[in-house]
This record gives sequence, C-alpha cells and structure tokens, in this order.
Amino acid sequence: MSNIKNGKGVIGWIDYRLPIFSTLQHTLIDYPTPRNLNYWWNFGSLAGIFLMIQIITGIVLAMHYTPSVEGAFASIEHIMRDVNYGWLIRYIHMNGASFFFIVVYIHIFRGLYYGSYKSPREVLWWLGLIILLLMMATAFMGYVLPWGQMSFWGATVITNLFSAVPVVGTAVVEWLWGGFAVDNALLNRFFALHYLFPFLIVGVVILHIVALHTHGSNNPLGIDRKGPQDSIPFHPYYTIKDLFGLSFVLTIFAAVVFYAPDFLGHPDNYIPADPLKTPAHIVPEWYFLPFYAILRAVPDKLGGVIAMISAILILFALPWLDTSKVRSATFRPIYKKFFWFLFIDVIILTWVGGSPAEGHFILIGQLATIYYFAHFIIFMPIIGIIETPKPLPNSISESVLNKPIKDGT
Ligand code: HEM
Repeated sequence: MSNIKNGKGVIGWIDYRLPIFSTLQHTLIDYPTPRNLNYWWNFGSLAGIFLMIQIITGIVLAMHYTPSVEGAFASIEHIMRDVNYGWLIRYIHMNGASFFFIVVYIHIFRGLYYGSYKSPREVLWWLGLIILLLMMATAFMGYVLPWGQMSFWGATVITNLFSAVPVVGTAVVEWLWGGFAVDNALLNRFFALHYLFPFLIVGVVILHIVALHTHGSNNPLGIDRKGPQDSIPFHPYYTIKDLFGLSFVLTIFAAVVFYAPDFLGHPDNYIPADPLKTPAHIVPEWYFLPFYAILRAVPDKLGGVIAMISAILILFALPWLDTSKVRSATFRPIYKKFFWFLFIDVIILTWVGGSPAEGHFILIGQLATIYYFAHFIIFMPIIGIIETPKPLPNSISESVLNKPIKDGT
C-alpha cells in the first residue's frame, strides 16, 4: 500500500497517472466511518451485491433467451431444462430481484428512521430515489420477458395507464407498444432496455457513493462527528461486519432459491401468454403491491396514475417536509411512533394490492392511501414543530464508550 503513496512499483506508477488505487484505498480501506453503525447500515453494501448478482446472472440468461413472442416462453423452458445449471441461474435471477427489493426497502426505511435524508445528505437521498425508479422500471420490463400470462397482462395493464394522459394518451401508448397491441415490438424493446438499465443503475450508484463520501455516513445517533475519536477505518471493522451480514442474507437467499424458488412468484406465469384469456386477478410482483393499491384506490384512471407516481415523488421533498432539526428517531418520541404507523400502513397497502379490488378491500385501500400521503404532508411537518426531542449525547464516542475520550485509541 505504501507503493501507492510513494509512487513506486507498477501500482504506484499507474496510480500516479490514474489514481484508481488510491481512490479504492481511500473508499474501501481508510475511509473514516462512524464507530457506532448498527446492522441497518449493512443494507447499502447488500444492495450493491444484489445489483452485481442480477447483472451477472442476467448476462448469462440473455445468452440463452429469445426475445420474440414465438420463442420467449419456450426459451425460458429451455433454460430451465436443457442449459447446464440454467435452472439455478434463472432462480437466482428471479429471486435475486425480490431480495434486491427487500434489501433496498429496508435501506430506505433505515433512512426514514434515522433521518439520513436530512441536510447535508439531500442529494444522496435523491440519487437513491432515482435508483429506486430505475429499479422499478427494470424489474417491470424483466417480468414481461418470460411472456407468461402475468407477463403479458401485467404489461397490458401498466402500459395502458398512459392512455389516461389527456389528448395524447392513446398516441403515447401506441408509441410505447410500437404497434396497436402488446406484441413483438414491445417485447423486443423491453429486452433491450432491461439489459441497459442495470448499467444506468451502476452509474447512479457510483454517484450515490460519491455523495455519501462527501459528508460521510449518518449514524444511529444522528449527530455529526466531532473528531477522529468518533470514527474508525472502514477496513477491517466494516468490511468484516458487511461480510458477516452478507453470509447471513445469502444463507436465507440460498434457502429460498433451493427450497422455495417459486414462493414469491405467481403460478400463472408458467402459462404461456394468451391475449384471448384474461387471468381472474392480474397482480404485479409483491414489491409493486403498495403502489398498485394506491393506483386502484382512486376511482379515476388518471387520478390513480397521478397518486401512484406521487407516492414516490413525494419522497423527493422529504428533507423539507420533515421540519425537525433532530435526525434520529431514537430521540424523537412522537416521530418514532409515526414511523411504525407508516410501516404498518405500507404492509396494509401491500396486502390490499395483492387482494381483489372488491368489497372491504376498496375502503381499506383508500384509507391506507390517504394515511400514506397524510404521513408525509401533514404529520411529518407538524410533528417536527410540536415534538420535544430527548437530549442528544455530546458525541458519538461519549455515547458509545460511556465516557469522553481524548484521542483515537
Ligand atoms: C442499488 C441500490 C442502492 C445501493 C447499491 C446503495 C448503496 C449504498 C451504500 C453502500 C451506502 C452506505 C452504506 C449504508 O449506509 O447502508 C448507502 C447509503 C445511503 N443510501 Fe443507498 N443504495 C441504494 C439505494 C438507495 C435508495 C433507493 C435510497 C433512498 C431512496 C438510498 C438512500 C441512501 C441514504 C440516505 C444513505 C446514507 C445513509 C446514512 O449514512 O445514514 N439508497 N447506499
């Protein structure tokens, strides 16, 4: 490593001209990290790992996949039955998408709890939201590729939403389709974009990390670091902690991939797409269900689309909707309760989104939708003003070690 600094050896020679090794050294080894990060801070690196898993397995799948309405379904069966370990690659990719969303949703809720979106991390938060939007588009297009019943009807329902746009709606939908129906042209462009988008995500993740490293990580106390005694180097402390968390999550992942690979999927997608047969209930993958519930909660089509999009867009304004100066919910007795109410509300939306839009589900979905928006537009600003936060500790080291320390030892 000293070769990097003194410019000696091959590594030093390259680094003097292109500081790639010193950047890695600074980012993954020396990087001063708050000494009190808990396991909720594992989920950023886990998200990065799942992004890599999706890209690697996706590239291998693409080598055997046929992007045409005649060949798509059969090529997936070919991957499952004939390609060496094709079943494994596909099951990892299928369930990897679900795990990627689980990990990223936990990552977002961690941010909501500890106020990680607040100054000076607003842009970091926005970049995260852009990643989320790209992930959603990628997952949606990927689900269309097997050309099963849910692929076809999911694509039909969602692309048709654009017809709600006044005046140009129908033209936009036909432009998206590349014709007058969900057909070969759409499948082809979805395949092309599904291959492209993960690389865009990689680009935004790099910006996300640059923004993160500009001011450093937030921490469970939500207070700024006062000096070197509040930090520890990323390696070995957090590399080993991230690896431990990874081995734990990969164990659960392996259990799902090997023992319940279809648990998170819908059986109808094992039926080839049939434009003449509409499934009884068209449902998206589980990670879209809360948004699907919001879409259906509004009786008007355009209104539903606006509500669904707003459910994510509102998160961009969060740094200003939250009026509290205190970041961490640990010191915010009222906000802490409302955080959990929001969490339960999202679970309810997920449940409603997966249920048929009839009977009492309609009312529950509408109430849960109103609550979702009220949380951000009404409760967050008001709580920040009326709440009396608990006293904050003087410093991270004092809180963690229970006594003030003078140096970094
Ligand atoms: C591919 C998806 C993503 C990757 C690979 C990723 C990666 C990371 C990493 C490695 C960290 C540092 C470790 C940590 O704090 O957990 C981080 C922090 C952060 N991420 Fe993400 N992230 C992703 C998506 C998101 C999304 C969707 C959001 C929010 C909408 C988000 C918001 C944040 C915030 C606010 C922080 C700072 C947390 C803090 O310091 O307390 N990220 N991200």
